[in-house]
Amino acid sequence: MEKIQKLVEERVGYLIVLTLLVISVAALVEIVPLMFQKSTTEPVAGVKPYNALQLAGRDIYIREGCYTCHSQMIRPFRAETERYGHYSVAGESVYDHPFQWGSKRTGPDLARVGGRYSDEWHRVHLTNPRDVVPESNMPAFPWLAKSLVDADAVPAKMTALRKVGVPYSDKEIAEAKSLVEGKSELDAVIAYLQGLGLALKNVR
Ligand code: HEC
Repeated sequence: MEKIQKLVEERVGYLIVLTLLVISVAALVEIVPLMFQKSTTEPVAGVKPYNALQLAGRDIYIREGCYTCHSQMIRPFRAETERYGHYSVAGESVYDHPFQWGSKRTGPDLARVGGRYSDEWHRVHLTNPRDVVPESNMPAFPWLAKSLVDADAVPAKMTALRKVGVPYSDKEIAEAKSLVEGKSELDAVIAYLQGLGLALKNVR
């Protein structure tokens, strides 16, 4: 045994190759099962792909950089679950490409904000947060109410998402444009926010 150890430790080449081998095997043992485990690859009961309007809203959420102040990841600690509800699980974000978990919280976590406020509250809040939360330092997004969703782009987004495993039907893709036409960007962001985290909303 000592001989082998001496051989490996004295020859850097062996040491490097064997170290890489150990790390690779260990990594495979950790990572590969995750790709097949139901809890990380299958949606939690009740999680559906975003509808056309929510999907458009999600892209506006990303465009406006909402994620730079808001996480969507409730950690499994009491202080978090008391405030936000059930901690986040992987099966809730299987249709999110890319996911919006994050960790930066200038504002509150939004993973379960769906249904917490009325649409009207969001309308006022996004147009000028100070109107409903006087001490808020969230920026106002008044242009969202004035711009319309780019309806032509939505079917192509759904087709692209289908390629990475989101089960949109041909019918849903065909109807998408007519469902978002004439809607404002504000409508879309609100539809997106109101759908967040509902699957485990009432689970404690
Ligand atoms: C510069 C940081 C910042 C950015 C960017 C930002 N927010 Fe906020 N947000 C906050 C803060 C701080 C609060 C808490 C005060 C308040 O309610 O206004 C908040 C609160 C919220 C709430 C209420 C959450 C709750 O549970 O009470 C929602 C919903 C929200 N933001 C959505 C958005 C959306 C959508 C965007 C992008 C269009 C966005 N925010 C961009 C900082 C930010």
